[in-house]
Amino acid sequence: MGKKFIVVGASSGIGKALAEQLLSEGNQVALLARRDKVLKEFASKFNTDPKNRIALTVKYDSTLFASAKTVFAKILKEFGSIDGIYYASGVMPTVAPDEFSTDKDIAMINTNLLGAIAILNPAAEYFQSIGKGMIAGISSIAGDRGRRGAPVYNTSKSALNTYLEALRNRLAVKGVQIVTIKPGFVSTDMLKDAKVPDKGFLKPITPEAAAKIIIQKISSGSEEFYVPGRWALVGLIIRNIPSFIFRKLNI
Ligand SMILES: NC(=O)c1ccc[n+]([C@@H]2O[C@H](COP(=O)([O-])OP(=O)(O)OC[C@H]3O[C@@H](n4cnc5c(N)ncnc54)[C@H](OP(=O)(O)O)[C@@H]3O)[C@@H](O)[C@H]2O)c1
Repeated sequence: MGKKFIVVGASSGIGKALAEQLLSEGNQVALLARRDKVLKEFASKFNTDPKNRIALTVKYDSTLFASAKTVFAKILKEFGSIDGIYYASGVMPTVAPDEFSTDKDIAMINTNLLGAIAILNPAAEYFQSIGKGMIAGISSIAGDRGRRGAPVYNTSKSALNTYLEALRNRLAVKGVQIVTIKPGFVSTDMLKDAKVPDKGFLKPITPEAAAKIIIQKISSGSEEFYVPGRWALVGLIIRNIPSFIFRKLNI
């Protein structure tokens, strides 16, 4: 029998690919994002049997923090139980090298960090109460270091890593799997204006390939990993470059 999942940020990119794979494997999935028309169209592909509608769509804005608890409770009521939640919502507006935009920074902190905390807290409380479950946050290799190009995107991801680590330290003993996912380049809308290599070691992978790796790693019990795995080497190098050298590099 299939399991029941929530995917926040299921209207495009990595979240959509995760939802697609979970639904294709016969799981029930609640699809959350602001573009509910896109979600409905996507869900209709999987809701062909009126007696077994496996894709539930929920129009949801992660930055409306006060609604998170109620939305989680409504999905729980509809599904009866929940096995796991993926937080894949995120924004990364273009920030010029000499730009300091508090508006853009607030948008990133609200969506990438506070939005995650707002919905993962009720999930954590529920999984703690039943002694099982899985919480996965899509972070980024960008959280490994404070880089000149994206100060607050980096901050949002490193803070998300710390939050997820703390949840893991609280909840592992209660039987809950907490997963920190650190993708490298994935060819989604988020990267459409970014300069990324089109070949070689750092070439972007498709969202479908990323979803396949993520679901496989989670089912094998992993708690923290890069996607694809080769980015672990990049992370290792980046984290170990001394600060006085790092600030001279244009990365
Ligand atoms: N692509 C990469 O190379 C890469 C690398 C490392 C990490 N990541 C991370 O992976 C995650 C997914 O990004 P992606 O690459 O798949 O980008 P994407 O295709 O742009 O998807 C972003 C998703 O976030 C949702 N979202 C944005 N703001 C939201 C809000 N206020 N409320 C609810 N949902 C919101 C979007 O849905 P709506 O617009 O419909 O609300 C969309 O479903 C992000 O956290 C990103 O930082 C991506």
